[in-house]
Amino acid sequence: MANIGLEASDQLEVMRLHVDAALEALVEDEIEQGAGQVAELCASMLLAGGKRLRPLLILLAHEIAGGQDTEEVMPLALAFEMIHTATLVHDDINDEAGLRRGVETIHTRAGLAKAVIAGDWLFVQGFGLGGRYDEHIVRLMAKCCADIAVAEFHQLDHVLNLATSPEDYLAIVRGKTAGPFAAGCQAAGLVAGLSDEQAAGLGRFGMELGIAFQLVDDLLDLRGDERMGKPRGADVLEGKMTLPLIHALTLSHGKERQRLATLIESFSDEHFDELMQLLDRSDSLSYAEILVKTHLERAVLELDAFPESQAKSLMLHITGYVMARHT
Ligand code: IPE
Ligand code: IPE
Ligand code: MG
Ligand code: MG
Ligand code: MG
Repeated sequence: MANIGLEASDQLEVMRLHVDAALEALVEDEIEQGAGQVAELCASMLLAGGKRLRPLLILLAHEIAGGQDTEEVMPLALAFEMIHTATLVHDDINDEAGLRRGVETIHTRAGLAKAVIAGDWLFVQGFGLGGRYDEHIVRLMAKCCADIAVAEFHQLDHVLNLATSPEDYLAIVRGKTAGPFAAGCQAAGLVAGLSDEQAAGLGRFGMELGIAFQLVDDLLDLRGDERMGKPRGADVLEGKMTLPLIHALTLSHGKERQRLATLIESFSDEHFDELMQLLDRSDSLSYAEILVKTHLERAVLELDAFPESQAKSLMLHITGYVMARHT
């Protein structure tokens, strides 16, 4: 799969285009078979330009596990991307988000009822693809999807809960984001013929990378990065208790703590700079950054079990990319 002679980023771009083409073919086929507006709406979000981190990691995990034929793992990679996109469609309904992947969200364009069904369509398409694999793998997929639901409930129950602990936060992140990275990498290892124990190592890699990835997503939300294709401060507006907020609430005292609590409870964009100043005072963004580094280091350590290869250096390149995203 890897093309010798190209830079790592170009090699990943070639792989990304391969994934994009396969996704495009899949939805075109559905539309030809009469799936109509639901498939068109889903295609518009699916093909709007996601980073494709999950399918790329699945293809690479399969390769470092000794897999020879990319086509045997491609349906799994597409399954995880479709399921991921399904969660985004539903997440955007719940978070009342207007933009995703730089385009208008489905519920904004087509209304709530159709957006719910569009998300379901993506889910079942994903499961249709993943259901071709051994029962063990299908169970892994089902478990990680069920865990997303558990974590999203957990998160909803902690909205504006100023007593949310770092442990609550971590449990939510493991479930809603890192679990699917873990399940995808682990399943890819199994498809390539690894033992359960070896595949579990790839699962731990995915889990650590996924935690770092969500920490970075939360940091970027606070920093307001326009590359995100979504507005800054959306998490605070939603009442989502991300780690920098939890950390700052723990470290500040007296009037400052009180002001921080008020800002969080009745946040609006005009208070953005003040909130950032309070977070800076307790070094809460740096704290989250240190954790990003720690989790990425743990991810990298899990790859020590695999021999050096181009696929492995591309996986390391992706961990480096996650690290660099927030700087
Ligand atoms: C967004 O995931 C949801 C999170 C888990 C933070 P991505 O940032 O991977 O979204 P796309 O697929 O690139 O659009
Ligand atoms: C994403 O969480 C996790 C999902 C399971 C969809 P977020 O709510 O942080 O995702 P973004 O920031 O909207 O992409
Ligand atoms: Mg959201
Ligand atoms: Mg959300
Ligand atoms: Mg986010």
